[in-house]
Amino acid sequence: MHTDTHTGLDSPKGNWWKPAHKSEKVWVGIAFAWCMVLFAMMPLWHWKGGQNPSGIRTRTTPQAFGARVGEFIKQYQTGDDRGMPIVTPPPGADVYLAAVSFQWMPIIRLQKNAEYTLHLSSLDVNHGFSLYPINVNFQVVPGYDYGLRVTPNASGDFRIICNEFCGIGHHMMVGRVIVEDAPLSAAASGATR
Ligand code: CUA
Repeated sequence: MHTDTHTGLDSPKGNWWKPAHKSEKVWVGIAFAWCMVLFAMMPLWHWKGGQNPSGIRTRTTPQAFGARVGEFIKQYQTGDDRGMPIVTPPPGADVYLAAVSFQWMPIIRLQKNAEYTLHLSSLDVNHGFSLYPINVNFQVVPGYDYGLRVTPNASGDFRIICNEFCGIGHHMMVGRVIVEDAPLSAAASGATR
């Protein structure tokens, strides 16, 4: 009986099983070698690249982190901007910044060239910390306190933009970091607008 259809049980007709051409083998070899290079670069960039800072990561809960942010605000608040507290921690302090749909809380006022430990966490869903216009990006994940050692090296009034889609207000989720040149005085008011 003659039939034109094939099933997986029959070998297809024709000369399809020719061995790979030499140039194809060469390209497969090059691709494999490049895969190995990129594979080696992953750990190498972590240690030598400088763009993957090793933070201090600890477990937390949204409740505990929210309470810690509240304590931080209470301790160092120096003003507010339309209801959002402006907090001025002293150089060397632990800074707590919470992402919560759809805000960054609080507004942080820092001193240029002073070192801080910036703790990031989310009180609900995943958010993305993106310091604008400087290209600094971090995932902000609920349940983890991600502590980064930061030393602001430029003064200005920066925006934190959320770069992880988090819901209906994602595009409005903008926070604020103020970096000042002069040493911060304890008596400074938060009226910076
Ligand atoms: Cu928060 Cu998008």
